[in-house]
Amino acid sequence: MRLAMEIHSSERPTRHALAGDGVVLPADQTHDASSTVERRVQALLQQMTLEEKIGQLAQVPSGGGHVPDDLRQSIREGRVGSVINEVHAPTVNELQRVAIEQSRLGIPLLIGRDVIHGFRTVFPIPLGQAASWNAALVRRGARVAALEAAAAGVNWTFAPMIDIARDPRWGRVAESLGEDPHLTSVLGVAMVRGFQGDEPLDLAQPGYIAACAKHFAGYGASESGRDYNTTNIPENELRNVHLPPFKAAVAAGVATIMTSFSDLNGVPATANPLLLREILREEWRFDGLVVSDWDAIRQLTVHGFTEDDRASAREAALAGVDMEMASHTYAHHLVALVHAGDVPVDRVDAMVATVLRTKFRLGLFEHPYTDPNQFPSAGMAEHLDAARESAVESVVLLKNDRGTLPLSPDTLTAVAVIGPLADDPYEQLGTWIFDGDPNLSLTTLSALRVLVGDRVSLRHARGLDTTRSRDESGFGEAVAAAEQSDVVLLVLGEEAILSGEAHCRADVGLPGAQEALIHAVAATGKPIVLVLMTGRPLALERIAHKLHAILCVWHPGSMGGSAIADLLFGVATPSGKLPVTFPRVTGQIPIYYAHKHGGKPPTPATYIHIDDIQPRAPQLSVGNTSFHLDVAYTPMWPFGFGLSYTTFAYEQILVSASELSMDGTITISADVINTGSRSGTEVVQLYVRDLVGSVTRPVRELKAFEKIRLDSGERRTVRFTLRASDLAFHGRDMSLVCEPGRFHAWIGGDSEAPLRTEFVLTASPSS
Ligand code: NOJ
Repeated sequence: MRLAMEIHSSERPTRHALAGDGVVLPADQTHDASSTVERRVQALLQQMTLEEKIGQLAQVPSGGGHVPDDLRQSIREGRVGSVINEVHAPTVNELQRVAIEQSRLGIPLLIGRDVIHGFRTVFPIPLGQAASWNAALVRRGARVAALEAAAAGVNWTFAPMIDIARDPRWGRVAESLGEDPHLTSVLGVAMVRGFQGDEPLDLAQPGYIAACAKHFAGYGASESGRDYNTTNIPENELRNVHLPPFKAAVAAGVATIMTSFSDLNGVPATANPLLLREILREEWRFDGLVVSDWDAIRQLTVHGFTEDDRASAREAALAGVDMEMASHTYAHHLVALVHAGDVPVDRVDAMVATVLRTKFRLGLFEHPYTDPNQFPSAGMAEHLDAARESAVESVVLLKNDRGTLPLSPDTLTAVAVIGPLADDPYEQLGTWIFDGDPNLSLTTLSALRVLVGDRVSLRHARGLDTTRSRDESGFGEAVAAAEQSDVVLLVLGEEAILSGEAHCRADVGLPGAQEALIHAVAATGKPIVLVLMTGRPLALERIAHKLHAILCVWHPGSMGGSAIADLLFGVATPSGKLPVTFPRVTGQIPIYYAHKHGGKPPTPATYIHIDDIQPRAPQLSVGNTSFHLDVAYTPMWPFGFGLSYTTFAYEQILVSASELSMDGTITISADVINTGSRSGTEVVQLYVRDLVGSVTRPVRELKAFEKIRLDSGERRTVRFTLRASDLAFHGRDMSLVCEPGRFHAWIGGDSEAPLRTEFVLTASPSS
């Protein structure tokens, strides 16, 4: 039984407080680290006034490097549970001191910040990190970020963003881990562990920070790729595609979850009981903290979902949002809502409990203050090495005609390095780098100077002022540099500002006059390597044939230049694979590998191009199938794709048994052979198709992957084990089902891999 006891004294309780189960606990039990978190939560809750409880649900913006008087006063009065965006350690300490020494109950503050892909040392954008398909590396990036952020007093990051992103127009694709639920789940969990540690108790140690899985849920499906736009996602699709990464993060112990700004099937995610109550709390048993996105509770009125702020506070609280970021509907209305009986006090207690639980789990009562000197300093060699390694593995080689790459300094006299992104320490950092230090950046041009500058002459020309510029006056200098060189490196793409929150594009081609620049340089006849620095997949069909090699480097972070130089000159070998499909043209979007088959799938035999239509043809004679007349129905580069400087062959796919029982396992293996002349690293991928389902199933789904290194000529058998539960999906009644039937399985180097086997899932248990 819950005993609601409010203490209206302005003094700290001195002797005893009632625990939730009626047990009398010493009042200082809340400060006794050996007591279990739940006992401490209940003990503290019992001492709080309703106003103090509601204070814990408020997250307010910082003063930015100082403590403004009104904020100080609010904290003293117990009206603040968390401060967002303070990264000046002495100020954070002052905020904590006010909370601990001057508020009645001395509850420390959560200090939140968007630590998305690094802090001072910047790692590749999350989409780039996802291209590494390397969970250990992703975990390490988050670990470094946690250490640097913790040194600034931050104890809570709003990452990882694990929204499934299948629309590259959406600017936040940069912040995502790509289009696939399995890859996003694996890497999202890796990030959570990097921030929070591997064991639940790690979080209580200095240097670990609470992670936040966001944005719950469906945000990535914003219509037309416009940020914050409506999302309409059938529940079945929601559960099969968008929710698995969140479920995995919850299972991995993520401390907090942030709701999405978007409207999901008519009910904004920030007031959505299906998402927040039924799925998150009841089905998944999440007991951590749910925070709204910035101002999102107040915006429920803007959505046209609620009449006023009071109604917004009620809907969000009843649906399950514990803490309100930035707006004040809880602060202004929750007390009255409770007194009016519109929000039960039990509900408020449950909300406050999640905040307190998070603070106890973080060990904030034991060590609320930050000693920046106890952490390794930002920008130290070890952190930069980690960022460099992450950048190397994130790069995807998309094209390499006749072995254009790697370059050799021995056979080159001069290299032209052209483009507005070749030597820009800031732009290579990408979106969400509030705290990133561009002084730590090594650009492509500077890294090339270090690597080969004494052997090869480097001719640098900007060509364009920015990637968006249409002013072609710099082309002459660029063409002259190309003419005087053996090979041209074009460092083009998108500045950081072109992706990220609210930075969406309706046309995902190369912006500005970049295509014209490529044409101008191509007219010299020199081999051209495009170093594509971008926050999203770009549509390159129109221009790709002019390029001899394309290295997609994303926004590679602080050490991007070093990684790029090493890859260009073969000091390192590309091993990244696309975590997201590259369309040929914008009009193909959404285009993703795990699509449904449909009843009229296109085939090479049925496809007809607009140029081939006969005059006055009444209709296509080859049959009506699902394609666009003006562009191929295949992507430019598929999910999972990426070349190396060596080549890999796949042979002998084998399945350990023809049947998989509901309680058994099956092993699917294939031989991978390095058929080239260099050693290299390959991401071996397993895809499955469920041929018949009570709900139609995607044409392929990634189920497992392994990254292996093979020497030239080396052969290795790679084995993947599947259980029936790996094949489960949410069926027509939304429950998780394993349906017996036939499955195809492929092993290969991308989502179009041809090497296939099959097996049957049987209803019978194993004999
Ligand atoms: C809005 C963004 O959607 C969210 O991801 C971020 O964490 C918050 N602002 C806080 O900056």
